[in-house]
Amino acid sequence: MKIACIKEKKEYENRVAITPSGAEKLIQMGFDVEIEKGAGESASFPDALYVDKGVKVAQTAKAALDGANLVLTVASPEKEELKNFPKDAVFIGVLSPYTQKDLLEEYANLGLSAFSLELLPRITRAQSMDVLSSQSNLAGYRAVLETAFEFSRGFPMMMTAAGTIPPAKVLILGAGVAGLQAIATAKRLGAVVSAFDVRVAAKEQVESLGATFIAVPLEEAGDSSSGYAKEMSEDYKRKQSELIAETIKKMDIVITTALIPGKQAPILITKEMAAFMKPGSIILDLAVEMGGNVQGSEIGKTVNINGVKIIGKPNLPSSIAQDASTLYGKNLITFLASIYDKEAQKFKIDLQDEIIKATLLTHEGKIIHPNFTGEKA
Ligand code: NAI
Repeated sequence: MKIACIKEKKEYENRVAITPSGAEKLIQMGFDVEIEKGAGESASFPDALYVDKGVKVAQTAKAALDGANLVLTVASPEKEELKNFPKDAVFIGVLSPYTQKDLLEEYANLGLSAFSLELLPRITRAQSMDVLSSQSNLAGYRAVLETAFEFSRGFPMMMTAAGTIPPAKVLILGAGVAGLQAIATAKRLGAVVSAFDVRVAAKEQVESLGATFIAVPLEEAGDSSSGYAKEMSEDYKRKQSELIAETIKKMDIVITTALIPGKQAPILITKEMAAFMKPGSIILDLAVEMGGNVQGSEIGKTVNINGVKIIGKPNLPSSIAQDASTLYGKNLITFLASIYDKEAQKFKIDLQDEIIKATLLTHEGKIIHPNFTGEKA
């Protein structure tokens, strides 16, 4: 059984699906591993580290993919790259099927069993495979550091002979995995932190980190059975908007992380609201790739509105690529172990399994996932 891993081609992508230690584990599981030359370089894993573990390094993506039974990636490939893909292989990655729907037909035509891991259900058994959690956690950490670099003041309170500097006031909008790590990181740097989320369950988690929870004065809750947030009523959105507008005037840093799976991210900060912030304030829109939580944020740019900087840096886990790849690679291997029979050395794809049903996009020449066939989930 051959596993192929190619260099990620998307802009802003520095991660790699297989790390040298991940490759070692895969080889112990009985696989042959082949990577495209330089696949791990931007994550600080040079080819030599892979060779040490017994990995074969191919000169081109085509050569690495040739005859592979399994392909592991971080993001979905470009359409162009699919011409080199093997037929009837298993293919695992974060394939963004909602925004890359046109590729599903191509995967099906190649006979790929394509799994997209951001669709994993939030159940206990899937926790160690949960790529969204492992990557969002690092994104939350990195988001705080990005804002700290742009901010012309410090985060902690400093009492010096020359005078006292007050601590930075940080607001986190969306207290999920990324938001909670952002709270913890901002606290560690000495900021005064508050946070907001539509899910009632988030209140206790925010408070346990020593931050203040800001609540909309309404009974409506955004919790859903999946663990993700649901979309809120118009009345709630209006009240939430008023509350955020009032709150951000007093803030130095705002980090927004609000997402609703499969949908455009909700707008939480309008241009008018941003313009009321103090000059020198920083907003970082972690949801920029999903349409953004902040009006006017732009992918890959820092926009300046009346002295307020809005950072739209995409793919923050990629800015901490070595750790992000290590955790992502571990998630992948745990998932792979659940669909691979080591003794028989073959894949066992149980179409009735909850995890398989949630993640398998294409199988045996067809698009199979109910969210993309038009059938009901
Ligand atoms: P996410 O990345 O989809 O969303 C980020 C946050 O934004 C969420 O907390 C969400 O409630 C919030 N949000 C959505 N719309 C909002 C709005 N209009 N205003 C303010 N906030 C808004 O979610 P994430 O971080 O991936 O996970 C959410 C929760 O799922 C976690 O906090 C946890 O409780 C649960 N979870 C469970 C897991 C498991 O059981 N295996 C694994 C990971 C998370």
